[in-house]
Amino acid sequence: MGAPTVVRAPAPRPLEFAQWIAARGERAEGALERALSAAGDQPARLHEAMRYAVLGGGKRVRPMLVYAAGEALGAPAAALDCAACAVELVHAYSLVHDDLPCMDADVLRRGRPTAHVQFGEAFAMLAGDALQALAFGVLAGSARHGVGAAATVAMIEELAAASGPAGMAGGQAIDLASVGAALDRAALEDMHRRKTGALLRASVRLGGLCASGAEGPAAEGFAARRRVLDRYADAIGLAFQVVDDILDVEGDSATLGKTAGKDAQNNKPTYVSLLGMEAARRLAGELRAQAHAAVVPLGEAGARLGELADLIVLRKS
Ligand code: IPE
Ligand code: IPE
Ligand code: MG
Ligand code: MG
Ligand code: MG
Repeated sequence: MGAPTVVRAPAPRPLEFAQWIAARGERAEGALERALSAAGDQPARLHEAMRYAVLGGGKRVRPMLVYAAGEALGAPAAALDCAACAVELVHAYSLVHDDLPCMDADVLRRGRPTAHVQFGEAFAMLAGDALQALAFGVLAGSARHGVGAAATVAMIEELAAASGPAGMAGGQAIDLASVGAALDRAALEDMHRRKTGALLRASVRLGGLCASGAEGPAAEGFAARRRVLDRYADAIGLAFQVVDDILDVEGDSATLGKTAGKDAQNNKPTYVSLLGMEAARRLAGELRAQAHAAVVPLGEAGARLGELADLIVLRKS
């Protein structure tokens, strides 16, 4: 006699990717709206400028990475909302400052006038400052949503490192210092990994940390899971800015929601100016393949991360 046949209920069909994106997008919008409203008694015009910078646009790629990485490792949903919201607040602040006349001098962002065009330079600068502070307050709130104290502290350190002088702000400084310069490939990669890759990598790592339990990064097996996520994050982090460089040349302002051709106009070194369009496209494809290969050890749980790598490389805006 063979073993009795076990009839299993079919596994629940995973939400299609588009539905998943829509559902997590709603979660992120809700968390951002709540964070802005709960920021305490604040001057009306500053509040208005902050809302303008954050709400009503943006692909929310960084929140999606938080959710996908966290869900792959079984993190509590409410904690992922905090992390997703925090990283998007930092990103929104970085865009406001990136567009200022003293930086890229851009007038179009997310299909609308940039924050400084709408509110003046001083309020755009202050809105960026305030969004950054708000982000860290929101992230600290993870501790009230099932993330242990050690993991919460690690998350705060993670976002601080990714946004600070060794990460995004440092990358932006290198970007400005490189105007008109012919960077070599290693220097260009370093700049891109800092100015854009660091926050994307942090998004993935924050999702992972939300799932690390009461012990945080010291949890058993966490280092191995983190290595898997890091390999993925390194690939998509660089791919994202390579594609941004490509779209700056190939895209049109209406689709991009920001001014096309700005890099050439501002004399910025990019992957397209260094390698040419074909090689830049090839590199984006290779990084996409690396991202897929990286999440193989996660099995089916890593599927969303793979789909997000496709979205990052194949996007048109
Ligand atoms: C644009 O980021 C700035 C870069 C870091 C390249 P996104 O392309 O994610 O911008 P939004 O959030 O969708 O507007
Ligand atoms: C911006 O890079 C990176 C940030 C830290 C905001 P870009 O200057 O290329 O971004 P866009 O093209 O203006 O969105
Ligand atoms: Mg810039
Ligand atoms: Mg710019
Ligand atoms: Mg760009």
